[in-house]
Formats: sequence, structure tokens, C-alpha cells
Amino acid sequence: MVGQSPAHHDFVNKVRGTLLYAADWNLPGMIHGKVVRSDMAPAKIVRIDTSAAERLEGVVAVLTAADVPHNAIVEHASGGLGELTVEQPVLARDVVRYVGEPVAVIAAVDPETAAEAADLVEVEYEPLPGVYRPEDALADGAPLVHDEGNVLVNWHLERGDIDAAFEQADVVIEHTYRSQHVEHAYLETEAGVGWIENDVVTLRISTQVIEHAVEVAAILGLPQSQVRVIASYMGGGFGGKEDMTVEPYIALLVWRTRRPVRMIWSRQESILASTKRHPFTMHYRTAAARDGKILAVDADIVGDAGAYPCLSARVLFAGAALSPGPYKVPVVRIRSRAVFTNNVPTSAFRGFGAMQVTLGYESQMDALAKELGLSREEVRDRNYIEKGDLLAGGEPLTTAVAVRETRHAALDMLGAPSQPSGPGKAVGQGFACGMQPYGRSIWFRDHAAAWVTLQADGTLLIRSGVTDLGAGQAASLCQIASEILGVALSDISVYIGDTALTPPAGGTYATRQLYMSGNAILRAARKLRDQLTPVAAKELGVPEDALVWVDGMVRTESGGTGLSLPELVRAANEARVDTSVLNTWRARSGGFDPQKGQGHTYPDYTFGTHAAEVEVDLETGEVRLLKYAACHDVGRAINPTRVRGQIIGGAAQGIGYALTEDCVTDAGHPLSSLFADYLIPTAMDLPDIAVAIVESGEGRGPLNARGIGEPPIGPPAATLASAVEAAIGVRPTQLPITAERVLALLDQRESEKGKSA
Ligand code: MOS
Repeated sequence: MVGQSPAHHDFVNKVRGTLLYAADWNLPGMIHGKVVRSDMAPAKIVRIDTSAAERLEGVVAVLTAADVPHNAIVEHASGGLGELTVEQPVLARDVVRYVGEPVAVIAAVDPETAAEAADLVEVEYEPLPGVYRPEDALADGAPLVHDEGNVLVNWHLERGDIDAAFEQADVVIEHTYRSQHVEHAYLETEAGVGWIENDVVTLRISTQVIEHAVEVAAILGLPQSQVRVIASYMGGGFGGKEDMTVEPYIALLVWRTRRPVRMIWSRQESILASTKRHPFTMHYRTAAARDGKILAVDADIVGDAGAYPCLSARVLFAGAALSPGPYKVPVVRIRSRAVFTNNVPTSAFRGFGAMQVTLGYESQMDALAKELGLSREEVRDRNYIEKGDLLAGGEPLTTAVAVRETRHAALDMLGAPSQPSGPGKAVGQGFACGMQPYGRSIWFRDHAAAWVTLQADGTLLIRSGVTDLGAGQAASLCQIASEILGVALSDISVYIGDTALTPPAGGTYATRQLYMSGNAILRAARKLRDQLTPVAAKELGVPEDALVWVDGMVRTESGGTGLSLPELVRAANEARVDTSVLNTWRARSGGFDPQKGQGHTYPDYTFGTHAAEVEVDLETGEVRLLKYAACHDVGRAINPTRVRGQIIGGAAQGIGYALTEDCVTDAGHPLSSLFADYLIPTAMDLPDIAVAIVESGEGRGPLNARGIGEPPIGPPAATLASAVEAAIGVRPTQLPITAERVLALLDQRESEKGKSA
């Protein structure tokens, strides 16, 4: 079963259109919620007048900050290591800090009335001085976004004598790289329904994290036992549903009106006010010897956190920890800061800080190759990190690295360069390697539970708190259990994502679910097998080790004698042996010292290489992507089709980030509000993406698998920068690589030529 790609229940339901997403639920007597958002910021709220909205026929409730029992969300993203404690209100109290910040929430009999009422809420603002760029927020005398200060967190990772290393260096490569705000752009916007059942506030939400039930309870001032969160199967999360989205607003309206409430954010609302990816400014200095060996990396990273903390502290930690990339770097000095601005908050987004720095470290490698007259491959071959080498945090890497194999596979798939399609065109090929952690930072003491039950008729029930973003998080558990217990997939039912009824698995983020819940279900299934095999052995009168679990039977290897699973369940009941196992799996853990900047960081990493061929129009600067290939080492592919799906999807999302996507703002006011002006790549923009999978057998996930959710979004931007440089001879250092920016690079090339002539 493992290593095959069966059509699971989620495939079938999605293709048939029978899967009920969060917005598809209707409940009797249901009313409709709408968030009222600030249209300017930063500003003091002088007065909110809700009377006209309340008078509108069909309006059931209008709530403001005064109606929220405990109006503060406090995020300790890094577990409290080093970050400021800054509250985020559910509904703004006296100040709004970004355009789109919630100031009120409305419930009405239909969505149109709720929208009309939202327009009738009058808010009088008094503008405050704002700050929209991290470098401005860091300047002396900058307006404070929060009284606590403009720097949420300031990470240092230091090892070795940096000054000595740079003195010894034969070459020093120094560049600054910049990336932009981007939107998750999931097909399914933020949505959910809520109701009261048995006095429990119950939410059924499109969320990555049902554990937010704890925060919802705190906001409402209820015991945790009176809030239940159920996750629906999702049309994409990508980190954008890792923080709460609709949860507190639906919960407040349900709790206040005692009626079922549905809330669906429109696309405009989602692009305006949902969290975004952190723009990074990455200043890199790399010291190397003449033979190409890296001696030291000195990196300074600044991330725009926007107006509230969300998960910025953890994102900037990942950026710092991964900033050397998949290379042996004996001496590091890394600083990364998350800086508040009056922009929309930034938070989790597939790749989570570790992806932004790929542009930095891979561009540095290409620049080093150019400087030394080595090939891009050669300079990497002399530096790839290997098992046992130290990571930025000072701990050794514990698994083998097959990044070189992934590069060979990606470049093989790309093939020989094409001829330009005509005059005034230039073709270039490039590649980039990357590494991405899977699993949470290991000081979090991560754990996940899974519960398997063999039923009287021999079918299997799996319960897990996992949420399913669309990547098959639920189905993978079935496949692993099927592998161990020999139960057909059609005889396995899986119940997921319910804080009341499924054992806690932690959220689906950080590429952690296959690693965490996959290990939990593997162990639960093995325990069940080990608990019931003696029963079968006794019934059959054969030794335990003669038995295998296959095809819904426990039988001797030779196929001679056996018990069907219903017979086994009957025998187990007679023998008073449980036919169910609830098991918690705990990840490796360790500590990190933010003062010394050394310690444990992540459980393990997934490595890969992408390669691309582009054609640049030298007159317009337009970049056309001709070929694309991607390869990752996933340890072991539990389901190759899903692995390919993650790689293709991650590459496509990363190509949009590289070439076209940009949430353009003007003093915090968004200028991109629709898919008409926020440009994700379509099928017309993408060539077929060639995929190869390397299985090194070295992962820490179940059956030696490695996580693959986030890793494929890392390499595309550096890959395309590398290909564009190969075409035009100048390196793009700022994303997205638009036609305008390429034209500016071409102009720069011409003027440099002019100077040297
Ligand atoms: Mo994620 S970006 O850890 O959902």
C-alpha cells in the first residue's frame, strides 16, 4: 500500500463535487456575519456609531470592542523566547493600526443586509502618523506602531570568529536581496459556520488549527470545555489559516445571538485583510577561499511583520536558522528582526521564512561561482552540507543529504538549452537548491495522537485531530494503517479535526503532519497488531511470528491457515483483549538559547533542486518560462501522486512569487484587491513541470518519509533569478522579477558596458 497512489475518499468526493467545504453548510435559522473593517490607518477611533446599522431591518446584532468579553489575542509564536508581548484586539478598541483591521462585527438575516449594515456603521477617525517600511520603522524617532516598540523580535545566531574568517577570506561576496508581500490565494476563502449545541459554542471552520478553540474560549471567557472546533476539508491553507481567521467573529455572534451563524470572506476581503507573506530585506556577506570553500556567512534579515505579531517571531527564526542554506558554513553571524509597520499583518505562508532566504543564499552561491570562475555546480559540490555537519544553531545534521542527486535529476530533466525564438530574445537556464525544515522548532515538545479501532465486522476506524488542507493529510493516515494492518482502504473510515471527538494531533502546518501524525498512526497500528497477534496465534495454534496481516486476514505467511478480522475481533473479546489503541507520539525535543544564539532548531530537513529555462525579450523585459523541472528527496514516498502534487503546486506557487505576484500598497492602502490585479500564474503561464522523486530512506517520518508540503516553494525564485541572469548577464535581486525590473537591469548592463568601453 505504501508507495502506491490509490484514489482516496477525498479525491473521489472532490471530483464528484460532493465534498462539503466550510461555506457549504446551512443550518436552520442561520444568520450571516460580516466584519466591519477600517478604511484608514493608523488612526485613533474617536467614536463608533452603530445606531443606523442596528435600526436596519433584518440586522440581528452589531458588536464592537465593548462587547468582547476578553478583547485580546496574545501570540507567543516562538514559545516566548525573545519576543515582545503585544496584544492584538479581536475588534479594535481605541486605535486602528492597518487598513482592513476589524472594528465591528454584524449579524443579519442575509449576507446582503449584513453588508448594507456594515456600510451604515459610522467610525470617526483621527489620523496618526504611520510607518510603512521596516527601515523607516527602525529609524530613530519613528512613530511607534505599538508602545512596546517596533521590533517584535531580534534573533542572533552566532558561531565562530566572524571577523577572523572575513580577514582570511580570498573573496567576499556582498549583496542585498528583497522580496515582497504575497497573498496565499487559496481557492477557498476564509469561511465557517457556528452554532450552540449542548451549551457548547461549536464552530465548523476552514482552519489549519482546531486548537484555536483555546483562544476562542479565552476571548468569550468560557471554559475550554464549552468551545468545540471542527475542521472542514479545505480548499487550501498555505499558512493563511494557521492563525485564526473567522473563528472569533463567528464565535462572538453565536454566543451573543444564540443562533447559527455563517461567515464567508469575499475574495476582496481576503486579499485586503488576511495575513500575507513577510517581505524580507536580506543583506548577505559570504567569505570564501580561492578554492570555493565557504568560510563564513554574515547575514542580516529584516522582515516586515505588519501591524500585529501573529507568527512573525517564528517566521523570522526560521529565516535566520535556514539562512546559510544546504551548505557547510563553519562560521556564522546571523541577525534577523521582525519589525512592526502599519501594513497588513504578515504571518505563516508555506515556506515560513525558510523560503525567502533561498533567494539570498542561492544568489550568493551563483555570485561566488562567477567571481571565482567556477561552474555553479562546482561551487556547490565543494560546499554541500553532509550528515554530521553543524547547522547554523550549532547542532549537527542527523540524516543523510541527497541534494546533489536532486540537482542531477533536475538538470537532466531540463535538458539542453533551446534556441531563442527570434532576434532580440535571449535564453537562459538556471537552477537553485534548497532546504526546508519539517516539524516544529524542537523546543515546542511536539506531539500528536492517533486512535485506531478494529470494528466487529473487520473494518477499521481512525480518529485523529489532523486537519486536511487538500494535501491528503487524512488519507495518508489510512494508507499507513492499511500497510500495517492489511485492511483495504475501502474498509477504513477516518474522522479528523474535532476538538471534542478526535485525539489532539496539533495543527497542519510546518510540514509536520506526515511526520507527526504519520508516526502516531504508524505506532498505533503496530501496537494494535502487536496486541492482537497473540490472540490470533492462540486461536490458530501457530507461533506469533508465523503470522502476517494481509487482505483483511491474519494468517500464516504461507497462506495455509488464518483468521478473518471479524473472527479475530470475536476472539479478542473472548480473550478480554482491547481491539482499539489510542497512542501519542512525541517528537525529539531540545532547547534553544536566544542569548547565545545556539541550540536545537528543527527535527530534520527536506532538500531539493529546481531548474528552469527562460526566454527574455530584450526589448520589453518580459520573462517567458519555457521549461521547469523539480526534484526533492522525500526519504520515502508514501503516496507518489500526492508527492508530485505537492511539488508541482509548490513550484507553481513559487513561480508566481518569483515573476508576478505582489500585494502593491500605497501608504498601507492596498492597490491589489482582485485576481485581476493580483497575478497568480494560470495554466497559460506555466509549462509542464517535470518532477522527479528521490527516496534516500533517510527521513524521520513514518517509514523514513520526509515532509514535502512546504519544501517545493523554496527554490523557484532563486531558480528564475539564476535563469534570467544566465540569459542577460545581470542578476535580479528583487522580487517579483517583472518586465519593468528586467528592463532596468538591461539598462544597467548597457550603461556598465558604456563605462567599460
Ligand atoms: Mo505553515 S506556513 O507552517 O501553514
